[in-house]
Amino acid sequence: MSIDHAASTDLSPEVATAAASGANATERFTSDKQAAADTPPERVSLLARQVLSAVHDTIREHKVTYDEYNALKAWLINVGQTGEWPLFLDVWVEHVVEEVAGESREGSKGTIEGPYYVPNAPELGSAAILPTRDGEQGTPLLFQGQVTAVDGTPLAHAVIEIWHADSDGFYSQFAPGIPEWNLRGTVTTDDQGQFWIHTMKPAPYQIPTDGACGNLISAAGWHPWRPAHLHLKVAADGYQQVTTQLYFPGDAHNDDDVANAVKPELILDPKDVDGGQEVTYDFVLDKA
Ligand code: DHB
Ligand code: FE
Repeated sequence: MSIDHAASTDLSPEVATAAASGANATERFTSDKQAAADTPPERVSLLARQVLSAVHDTIREHKVTYDEYNALKAWLINVGQTGEWPLFLDVWVEHVVEEVAGESREGSKGTIEGPYYVPNAPELGSAAILPTRDGEQGTPLLFQGQVTAVDGTPLAHAVIEIWHADSDGFYSQFAPGIPEWNLRGTVTTDDQGQFWIHTMKPAPYQIPTDGACGNLISAAGWHPWRPAHLHLKVAADGYQQVTTQLYFPGDAHNDDDVANAVKPELILDPKDVDGGQEVTYDFVLDKA
């Protein structure tokens, strides 16, 4: 099966292209994130040498030719020109950074943030309805739960940011023709640490195939799919923020995610109810 993102967007004459979502993701990263400027030179040197040495070893071991070297050079130039560095890094590198960062946490598992987070989504209280379009397609989903500390203490007024793709696999602010805050919101837990979020189930997501990342995938004979997922950031004063994703059982790509970001603890257990699905998932935060 193949869903062509560009072909499935009837909502707008504009089409979702890798270059457009790449440019948006690059712009967001540049404006929202700070690069660590205080890394000491010894550490920069150690890390840079080790990465370069892995490249040198690969070239020697596999007798990489000048044609292959030039193909790599052209490809790297293209990654930059299409703004796909955030996509490339978040798909093929971030999961290991997250693994190391989360190693000593006891609470809820995290996973990669990906390129499509936008801060300051509308505040929707503790019983939230995420913004949708009239006639938003998909299965209605009630996602509810409680935020607690590792010792079980409920965390009142914890802040849950949620964002996810629509039933075509598109994210607002990165694909054209979708209202700014569609399927994005900031939810705050009540006095018992509880929350309720009404939304529409997302679809499996295909990373853009018409740009540099897509070229790599087709040249290598890989596939571009991520399983359907909800993205979340959960924060409370005095606790470590968790950035995570939650997945749905039975998705063909839960075992085979292009971004390697699925963990067994992150697969939800939704129940069919009248008019849609309902699922409970509790978050546990470690002390800061
Ligand atoms: C990408 C997209 C996602 O929605 C995600 O969660 C991770 C990576 C990407 O296109 O790079
Ligand atoms: Fe995503």
